[in-house]
Amino acid sequence: MSYDFETLNKKRAGNSAKWDVKEDELPMTIADMDFKVAPEIIQALQDKIAMGLFGYEEIPTEYFKAVADWYEIEHHTRPQEDWMIFATGVVPAISSAVRRLTSLGDNVLVQAPVYNIFYNSIVNNGRHVVSNDLDYDAKLREYTINFKDLEEKLSDPLTNMMILCNPHNPVGKIWTRDELTKIAALCKKYNVKLFSDEIHGDITFNKEGYNPVFGLDQEYLDNVVVAVSPSKTFNVAAMHAATIIVPNANLRGQVSRGLNSEELAEPNFAAIPGTITAYTKGHDWLKALKQQLLENRQMILNFVQDNVPDIKWVPGEATYLLWFDVSKLTDDATKLSEFIRQDTGLIVTPGSVYGGDGQHFIRMNIASPKEMISDGLNRLQKAITDYQK
Ligand SMILES: Cc1ncc(COP(=O)(O)O)c(C=O)c1O
Repeated sequence: MSYDFETLNKKRAGNSAKWDVKEDELPMTIADMDFKVAPEIIQALQDKIAMGLFGYEEIPTEYFKAVADWYEIEHHTRPQEDWMIFATGVVPAISSAVRRLTSLGDNVLVQAPVYNIFYNSIVNNGRHVVSNDLDYDAKLREYTINFKDLEEKLSDPLTNMMILCNPHNPVGKIWTRDELTKIAALCKKYNVKLFSDEIHGDITFNKEGYNPVFGLDQEYLDNVVVAVSPSKTFNVAAMHAATIIVPNANLRGQVSRGLNSEELAEPNFAAIPGTITAYTKGHDWLKALKQQLLENRQMILNFVQDNVPDIKWVPGEATYLLWFDVSKLTDDATKLSEFIRQDTGLIVTPGSVYGGDGQHFIRMNIASPKEMISDGLNRLQKAITDYQK
């Protein structure tokens, strides 16, 4: 079956948060896609609506089986079904875990530059952010983990949780099994809960894919909480469905009590049929999506290399978000992004929002039809030419 990734959808009509911009503006920002959802998912939701029953629901065993099968087929490691808890989103689950598993005033460790909402989950709950900033090699354009710094910060008695982004948004990095094992071993050594956000795990372009943390050796799994979700993969963020995978029964009880007491474990009417269908019938759609994204990426990299050479891509093999080094142009990505928007209507995300060295970078969402990508690239070229004048 062939899928349509080229039709320009009228996203403004759908209350889209990303498209809440002026008529002539082009957002390449918030991490959702300008593609229609897989037809199989649309059908499942139509069937659900046709039943006309929207009372409280509970998660059937088929849901957890669909998640486990998906990880076995796509990622070659099967999480146990009894390790799983439903949650209404990854961010609500992170916030709930922060509240349940750490205390007021504790440190929660992240690796900046990182998905900005992690900071909200920590700070809004009265905890402190501690960052093990990723090291950036400007020549190689590569990020790596500073493990010495990581160990120092994890060894602080006030640091009780680490939020890992695996693969990493915004830098697009897939952590190796070795790196993940080292992180998990350090968390175990210092009794730090490791929350691994794996929402971007399905969108990878390398041969091996990413490494789910629940697939690490058994000895590292006792203090691990993993969040997965179909929302990025299948562009169903508004479905509000995530699965929290906690191998250790004790810890699972705590996470589960947190989610339940805050009513974050109650599915809406779309979450169960949408997730089951995505995970049982979505393999071919995902394959086609990745092909489209690879083509988009190549088109963008060719264009940037030829026409906007002062912007450099930081190679990454995950997510539909490209991370560009703009340090040749500015050390204030916020100002640059504002200029680009005012000059041409193109909206990109300034790396500054992700902390760390983000002020030297911009993030661009490339999950759009080629016609839109092409429009975005022309605007980018004009903006950078004007900026340099
Ligand atoms: C790393 C990461 N985690 C979580 C989310 C949002 O998850 P949810 O909508 O399930 O709360 C995003 C969305 O961009 C993300 O990039």
